[in-house]
Amino acid sequence: MPAPNIETIVSLAKRRGFVFPSSEVYGGLGSAWDYGPLGVELCNNVKQSWWRWLVYERDDIEGIDSSIILNRLVWKYSGHEETFHDPLVDCRECKSRLRADKLDVTAGTAGGDIAEMIRQKQVKCPNCGSKDLTEPRPFNMMFRTTIGAAAEEDDPTALAYLRPETAQGIFINFLNVQTTMRRKIPFGIAQIGKSFRNEITPGNFILRTREFEQMEMEYFVSPDAEHLKLVDEWVDQYVDWFTRLGLDRANLHLWDVPVAELAHYSKRTVDIMYRYFPERAEEERQWEELMGIAYRTDFDLRSHSNKPTDEEGKRINPDSTEDLSYFDEANKQRFYPHVIEPAAGVNRTVLAVLMDAYSEKTNDKGETRVILKLRPQLAPIKAAILPLAKNKPEIVGMAKAIKRSLQPVLRAVYDDTGGIGKLYARQDEIGTPFCVTVDHQSLEDEAVTVRDRDTWEQERVKVSDLAEHLKNRLAG
Ligand code: GAP
Repeated sequence: MPAPNIETIVSLAKRRGFVFPSSEVYGGLGSAWDYGPLGVELCNNVKQSWWRWLVYERDDIEGIDSSIILNRLVWKYSGHEETFHDPLVDCRECKSRLRADKLDVTAGTAGGDIAEMIRQKQVKCPNCGSKDLTEPRPFNMMFRTTIGAAAEEDDPTALAYLRPETAQGIFINFLNVQTTMRRKIPFGIAQIGKSFRNEITPGNFILRTREFEQMEMEYFVSPDAEHLKLVDEWVDQYVDWFTRLGLDRANLHLWDVPVAELAHYSKRTVDIMYRYFPERAEEERQWEELMGIAYRTDFDLRSHSNKPTDEEGKRINPDSTEDLSYFDEANKQRFYPHVIEPAAGVNRTVLAVLMDAYSEKTNDKGETRVILKLRPQLAPIKAAILPLAKNKPEIVGMAKAIKRSLQPVLRAVYDDTGGIGKLYARQDEIGTPFCVTVDHQSLEDEAVTVRDRDTWEQERVKVSDLAEHLKNRLAG
């Protein structure tokens, strides 16, 4: 049973130290969230799983970590300055700022043209119900900043942006990576990092925020490769990876983005959607994008290169100092590699993982307990060491020594801040796969009780075998 809605996870996340509203002492900052002690571990475990899967387990992918603030020209030639817009609409009545493409337009069709529907008063403000809305106008989502101590607020030569995608840092480093690592296509470059978008309507917890983290990979292939088929292959691989992270296949849905809605660089995009809104009655409203897999053609490498020309023979990029083409030794051909891009969000993956891991179980006393059935590899804490009597120094000493001995092998915590039932319940709720209890008998037989989070079954294990025992069970 996954979480019934996002609010259940918001409450659990705050109560148990996964995610807190940011800047709370000053009343918060719309849609910004801080990751607490358990949240940062969960995010790190998701990122590690992705990095291991792509960079370590495969032979054809390298990793990089590029700057967040890049030369402004990167965003000029990537097309973001001109096209990275959302359609902005204002409600004249309540002054809400709204995204035109997210408005509920069930009433009337007017040929599907949102501007026309607004003019004909067929669209309501979701906040106050007024139909007095402005016409949509483009709003560029890149966050602006200025570079240098002496920079004037509006000095165009000092203008820079916080990156809205990590992908461009990969494209501009294509040749650096290809030549230093002596790579032949097909090969990929992976990157994890923060991206920033001045979203008009952020919301739904960590689903849509203005600062978020991406896990992107650009896979460079020949212009003759079967690009559309490769998109499908990467979709399959990602669906498989998500299910290995614990997501139920029934909560994933594939959506081929219609041509009219494709990003300016894409010839085809398939979004993997997750059921973030199971509480909504109409199934088509339950889904939101978890990630997208796009065929970006050779658009980006070409745009950042100094050689390509337009129909009139003029260089399309007179500012670039390099040509990001590739020489294929086997065929003695030079070309701009084409790109398949799987682009995933860390935060949306974490939210989906939390929702799918959520479950409830009733104990013998009829009390309902929350159990977070996280895959062990993702659990923030792998084992909690609990003394049965905290007023017995020998038991406490033994429990603390066990915690210290496990720490180099796996993430363990010691806790004596409640009765054993309460301690078990707390660990179940944060997804700790194993609780290790030290009791009076442990002092005699040098053994402890290992309790399984999901079954609540217990078994006795020798302290000398404990690390190996837990390692095996975590791996299995
Ligand atoms: N380089 C391509 C690209 O950035 P995208 O679909 O705009 O594609 C990729 O973003 C992923 O980044 C999304 O599928 C989502 O997981 C995540 N993402 C995008 N905007 C986000 C936001 N405002 N808040 C949280 N995650 C976001």
